[in-house]
Amino acid sequence: MYEVKCIGILTSGGDAPGMNAAVRAVTRAAIYNGIAVKAIYRGYKGLISNEIADFKTQSVSNIIQQGGTILKTARCMEFKTPEGRKLAYDNMVAAGIDALVVLGGDGTFTGARIFAQEYNVPVVGVPCTIDNDLAGTDFTIGYDTALNTIIEAVDKIRDTANSHERLFIIEVMGRDAGFLALNAALASGAEAAIIPEIQTGVDQLSELIGRGFRKSKNSSIVIVAESDVTGGALGVASRLKKEHPEYDARVTILGHIQRGGSPTAQDRILASRLGAAAIQALLEDQRNVMVGIVNDAVHYEPLASAIKNEKPVNRLNLDVLKMLSI
Ligand code: F6P
Repeated sequence: MYEVKCIGILTSGGDAPGMNAAVRAVTRAAIYNGIAVKAIYRGYKGLISNEIADFKTQSVSNIIQQGGTILKTARCMEFKTPEGRKLAYDNMVAAGIDALVVLGGDGTFTGARIFAQEYNVPVVGVPCTIDNDLAGTDFTIGYDTALNTIIEAVDKIRDTANSHERLFIIEVMGRDAGFLALNAALASGAEAAIIPEIQTGVDQLSELIGRGFRKSKNSSIVIVAESDVTGGALGVASRLKKEHPEYDARVTILGHIQRGGSPTAQDRILASRLGAAAIQALLEDQRNVMVGIVNDAVHYEPLASAIKNEKPVNRLNLDVLKMLSI
């Protein structure tokens, strides 16, 4: 059995609300269990450039409610090279770190998996991304806050849509996943969600127009997930303009406001549970897993399958959306 004495913790990739709550939970759970904590700043970039500092319980005081990440984050190209990973490993060993806890999404775990295999280092991932696109956990940290931010924005846009009797096409984030778009559409009472998962031969825009979605309404909201498959809000709008010039449509791209803000209670609870679970996983000699919560129970998912993009959106929710938007 491998005894972990000192962990390194880092946040990497896109920030997500609740990352700080997770940093706090990992740090406190480690110290509670007699494990020392080293903070690595700026993700893998900081591991390569040796930006490593000791963390105490007080280092994570008063951050549970803060958006962003106190550890900073970066997307690091150098970590994709064997030379970069070698530098990272040397710095890790020199700092006395014998296991890594990495907070992030898809890209973070892809790097972690390769590093763990190359150097036989125990790595535990904590799912932090607003996209909710990781298998092995019902929800990722940040998703609930982002969803609530989107709904708040859509509610405001709806006032203008209603006053001007316009159609609004609103683009939300999600990379290649439609969780945010579909569930934001349901929660904001939108007419439709155009998501990348529905691509095989279905023209979502024609289908929407075909079902006469504006017959009973003067204003409409359509939520589009960013992606090459959907064409994003601008793509949908330009087609609409060509094919249906009778619609007075406007586009809003919500952008990075979706990633900021104080985390919701759900995200703080999830972050606290998953941070503690990450340390528990190391104590149980788990390696190269992502911790998740499935049906209210802690679950260990191999990093490889967490990032395979195999968590499906619930397509039945699209039927509910159609039914309720008549
Ligand atoms: O993965 C999180 C995310 O916000 C995606 O939804 C989005 O596609 C991407 O990051 C944007 O990344 P950046 O902030 O680097 O432009």
